[in-house]
Amino acid sequence: MANIVEISSVVKKFGDFTAVDHVSISVKEGEIYGILGPNGAGKTTTINMLLGILPITSGAIHIAGLDIAKNPEKVKQLIGMMTQETVVETDLTARQNLEIFAALYHISEPLRSRRVAEALKEAELEKFAEVKAGTFSGGMQRRLELVKSMIQDPKLLILDEPTTGLDVQNRLSMWERIRALNASGVTIILTTQYLEEADALCDRIAIIDHGVVKAIGTPSELKSMVSKGNILEITLKLSDAEKAYRALKGRLKIPLEIRGDRILGSLEKADSSAISNAISILEREHIQPLAIGTHLPTMNDVFVKLTGSALRDTTGEQTSSMIKMRHGIPR
Ligand SMILES: Nc1ncnc2c1ncn2[C@@H]1O[C@H](COP(=O)(O)OP(=O)(O)OP(=O)(O)O)[C@@H](O)[C@H]1O
Ligand SMILES: [Mg+2]
Repeated sequence: MANIVEISSVVKKFGDFTAVDHVSISVKEGEIYGILGPNGAGKTTTINMLLGILPITSGAIHIAGLDIAKNPEKVKQLIGMMTQETVVETDLTARQNLEIFAALYHISEPLRSRRVAEALKEAELEKFAEVKAGTFSGGMQRRLELVKSMIQDPKLLILDEPTTGLDVQNRLSMWERIRALNASGVTIILTTQYLEEADALCDRIAIIDHGVVKAIGTPSELKSMVSKGNILEITLKLSDAEKAYRALKGRLKIPLEIRGDRILGSLEKADSSAISNAISILEREHIQPLAIGTHLPTMNDVFVKLTGSALRDTTGEQTSSMIKMRHGIPR
């Protein structure tokens, strides 16, 4: 498949500060592509350059083969965009919000009425068409924004943190809407701070931190970078961690890392003997782990490995398989 988006070594500086540092990303037609990173990673800055809202300091961006610096108007017609902040006009009804946006894209009657009616239906807002958007719940406003961003029927849809701030139910419903749009042929780029979202929704993910791309791959490629088999994870009192690490390092014949109060090991395969071996090594040192267990690599493991810190709002899957230890006895 051809690349619909080609971001080539793009840099964005605000004064002396480099917000985006030689980012190169290519998105294939038909993909759901995730840009995953914490607050301040440079996600919105990258998106704003894609849209031509922010000038690029250096590098180039091509969309559908067009250099955006040379063809800003043409490129705008190809892209639908949902911004990070909700921007529905609260004093206008759902229908009026859509009509104004359609007019901005020079969609004239009778197509305009048809597109607006379809959009209201897609957003499940038909019953609320004549109600002011300011009275809508957060989920309804996001739904209205999503269909608004699709009003001119773009090939490429860019969603800046489409689910941040939504409750679980609205988040899952947004995922379904994104998947349905993608199935209808729209290429989607979305930014997210949620590991679980990137994992569940995206064909490929670029992980960025401090403006730098740390890794790019499918969710399974990224996870197999961390470990081909399972991860051994031992949680300790912070004051025990260093001593435990030294004791385990020589005796467990696996690659080990220490991250604060946790020790992580990379196992070739699911190997329960690693757990019992680790427990007996620690017992000899009179160290009691708080929890010990193995799990398949998660996006959280990938993120920790690449950035050195955990991303907030992880799925909880990581600790679910852990054996919590109390007085040396699994519970
Ligand atoms: N107009 C600006 N002037 C100066 N610095 C800016 C400007 N816009 C963004 N930055 C800085 O650039 C960095 C990247 O910001 P950006 O908004 O792209 O992050 P983000 O990944 O979208 O974060 P979030 O998840 O919080 O939305 C941040 O350190 C931010 O403070
Ligand atoms: Mg942002």
